[in-house]
Amino acid sequence: MHTIATNDLTTQDIQALDSAHFIHPFTDHGDLATRGARVITKAEGIYIWDSEGEKLLDAMSGLWCVNVGYGRKELADAAYQQMMTLPFYNSFFQTTNVPAVKLAAKLASLAPHGGDRSFEHVFYSSSGSESNDSNVRMVRRYWDLLGQPQRKVIISRHNAYHGSTMAGASLGGMSGMHAQGDLPIPNITHIGQPYFFENGKPGESADDFGIRAAGWLEEKILELGADKVAAFIAEPIQGAGGVIIPPPTYWPEIQRIVDKYGILLISDEVICAFGRLGHWFAYENLATNLIW
Ligand SMILES: Cc1ncc(COP(=O)(O)O)c(C=O)c1O
Repeated sequence: MHTIATNDLTTQDIQALDSAHFIHPFTDHGDLATRGARVITKAEGIYIWDSEGEKLLDAMSGLWCVNVGYGRKELADAAYQQMMTLPFYNSFFQTTNVPAVKLAAKLASLAPHGGDRSFEHVFYSSSGSESNDSNVRMVRRYWDLLGQPQRKVIISRHNAYHGSTMAGASLGGMSGMHAQGDLPIPNITHIGQPYFFENGKPGESADDFGIRAAGWLEEKILELGADKVAAFIAEPIQGAGGVIIPPPTYWPEIQRIVDKYGILLISDEVICAFGRLGHWFAYENLATNLIW
């Protein structure tokens, strides 16, 4: 029998407090006001429980992020030890700390290597949205330092999801989010998504569609002028936009195009990395087509 960990508050008490004080993202507030929020109280392995004692299979892994399941004692112990030793310090002003260095080195060792596609450096952020905001600034700075400050435009895709901050939502291609915030911000533009079942033509093979869909990137680069384009950003598999898996021909063709025009490729792996597609990083799958 599961114990409901609600600190002696009833589900209704919690729902009332929730309604009075807690603003939820991505929520139908009319529905929330009528039915009240579902209160999650406990999790273990792949399951979560709500305040009514109902056990649920957490098929979405939290928000696509609980890759190793809930209730991992080794993670709790490591966090406890570190909280007691050094719970916080910053990395500004030529300062560092041991766990941050060790993790950066570990991530670099796990990241894809080979040719000019070795990833040796790590920049930490607290969320996917913040990562993509940082991406916009880093990409601009990169081209500034190379003496090409006119390369400002980042190309993304319709229906992409890259987060909920100003830059994240602008990089994303969700029209509802754009409408709410006067977005996208300048110098971000979108091309079609490689969704074969919606955009494939009658008689067209998935492979042919993949090449055609990648071609939309080249068309956009030529329309804007290659010397104005800084980067292309995309999720290896579009998650929030509908779990859209591009045909096997798509990513190699995208890689060929960005290489041809010397444009940076940002692989947004917020939900595709760390084993989710069978590799540490989804980027390793892109050219080898293991996902179809
Ligand atoms: C591909 C992708 N990028 C960015 C984000 C934003 O991450 P966060 O919610 O941590 O800001 C998400 C969130 O699901 C995502 O799926």
